[in-house]
Amino acid sequence: MRRSLLTWYQHQGRDLPWRGESDPYKIWVSEIMLQQTQVKTVIPYYQRWFKKFPTLEELARADQQEVLKVWEGLGYYARGRNLHKAAQKIVKDYGGIFPQTLEQVLKLPGIGRTTAGGILSAAFNQPVSILDGNVKRVLARLTALLVPPNQALSQLWQWSDQLLDSEHPQDFNQAIMDLGATLCTPKNPACLLCPWQKHCQSYLEGLQNQLPMREMT
Ligand code: ADE
Repeated sequence: MRRSLLTWYQHQGRDLPWRGESDPYKIWVSEIMLQQTQVKTVIPYYQRWFKKFPTLEELARADQQEVLKVWEGLGYYARGRNLHKAAQKIVKDYGGIFPQTLEQVLKLPGIGRTTAGGILSAAFNQPVSILDGNVKRVLARLTALLVPPNQALSQLWQWSDQLLDSEHPQDFNQAIMDLGATLCTPKNPACLLCPWQKHCQSYLEGLQNQLPMREMT
């Protein structure tokens, strides 16, 4: 399963500005922007951000007003304020070097488990799993999960950990996000093109349009 996903990703993965980036500062900013905002909205903000704040030190030194000005239009402004606060903490506690352990990264404001996994796998190829909305949907379909994903989070995290390709965590995490974003979409998933078709319990049972179950609000 891992190999078929990675082969699919090599040919069909999206070409995004933060792919192939190795500067953890840039990957961190991309992951924060992507928390609540779609890829196509993020791209111009991502590019503008580094014209204004080329390095983490420059971000740390800026005024909060300048930071929020560049963030303007992305919404959820706590994300911008937390980026600024976290940059100051990284300068103070780690000499401006982005931390590389899960424990340290999780202590930065604005970073939860999925964002930490996104950063550590993309920047340092560390085997840390993720569970964002796309991954929840992929795993819920793959396993024909019969409860809403948010009611089975510990189960989903376990599956995400087990499935992660610990030899290729960087590509694997990007690949599973792309699978969710481009084929295993909320509506009309493109199962005929899916590298996991023959492993997908929902597809095998014809349930792909019924799953995942809707969250009860
Ligand atoms: N959503 C969150 N992180 C992402 C990434 N690295 N690529 C695409 N979509 C994402």
